[in-house]
Amino acid sequence: MSITKNIAILEGDGIGPEVMEEAIRVMNAIEKKFGHRFMCTSAWVGGAGIDNAGKALPEETLKICEQSDAILFGSVGGPKWEPLPPNEQPERGALLPLRKHFGLFANLRPARIFKGLSHASPLKCRIAKAGFDFLVIRELTGGIYFGEKGSDENSAWDIMKYTVPEIERIARVAFESAKKRKGKVTSVDKANVLQTSILWRKTVERIHAQEFPEITLEHLYIDNASMQILTRPADFDVIVTENMFGDILSDESAQISGSIGMLASASLSESGFGMYEPSGGSAPDIAGKGIANPIAQILSLAMMLKYSFGLLEEHEAINDAIQQVLDEGYRTGDIFSGSEEEKRIGTKEMGMRITKKIV
Ligand code: IPM
Ligand code: MN
Repeated sequence: MSITKNIAILEGDGIGPEVMEEAIRVMNAIEKKFGHRFMCTSAWVGGAGIDNAGKALPEETLKICEQSDAILFGSVGGPKWEPLPPNEQPERGALLPLRKHFGLFANLRPARIFKGLSHASPLKCRIAKAGFDFLVIRELTGGIYFGEKGSDENSAWDIMKYTVPEIERIARVAFESAKKRKGKVTSVDKANVLQTSILWRKTVERIHAQEFPEITLEHLYIDNASMQILTRPADFDVIVTENMFGDILSDESAQISGSIGMLASASLSESGFGMYEPSGGSAPDIAGKGIANPIAQILSLAMMLKYSFGLLEEHEAINDAIQQVLDEGYRTGDIFSGSEEEKRIGTKEMGMRITKKIV
């Protein structure tokens, strides 16, 4: 069945616009092949919002997002806007308010090694070759990011607070995800030190016992988890954790997969509204050179089709197209090893090659 959806396109700063162009190219191919209509409306965000509309998250942008069925986000930030007060900078002025405004409490960040790319991982050869495929689920609208903040001449504070309903709902997302995967959840906390973690662990255990007894549940402390991910990544399936631990663990997980340029993320609300963005940043150092890897942005589109619109076949079609192009040896600089079978290409060619596989 073909569908019609409104999509807000927020390409943002740095490499955002150039990788978004490739995602839209792929989106058009999906429309054509499957008969869908995606009505895209672009809006300013981040540094581009500051420069063109006076602030990181202009009202007009928010309105466009509210009228859309999903948001496809590029990346924000760069040295140009760093001198601004923290609250006005692209990250704190746009990304965090968007998450809060739409109640995007569940952040899904898949981490896996793509076939043929294990050489790019900094892990020991043996571990990287064995591969891994897990999903980091990060609580995104609570904890220390959004607690009371303050400072005086001699001190500063950020309060970390979690409520039972906040923990319950993210635990359910984790268990539901594990049901569709390998049936295992690792909950990460610091219950040997933090009150919020004691509540976290107790609540996750209760939801597990009452609603998902068939799922395997283990608990790890955050410091230990960050080591275990490096030594036995293949043992993980779903990792669920609070906002700041998830920020750190998801970067670690992305890094060991080889390139942050290959990973997408979804941020979902209780009603299923979603914002989709690459896990990497705006990479101002390579912006405008046509060498950025567009795959993370294209995979963000694929996640949008799956999670917001339930288009599983279309999601698979994009994943298959990417794997085929990688199998043919095409690589952007970040995943290029220099071996003879590989051909180094730029952003546009990568986007076009992936698009051509969707027919
Ligand atoms: C991320 C980013 C953001 C975060 C920053 C840019 C505010 O690092 O999405 O992981 O810390 O959540
Ligand atoms: Mn981060």
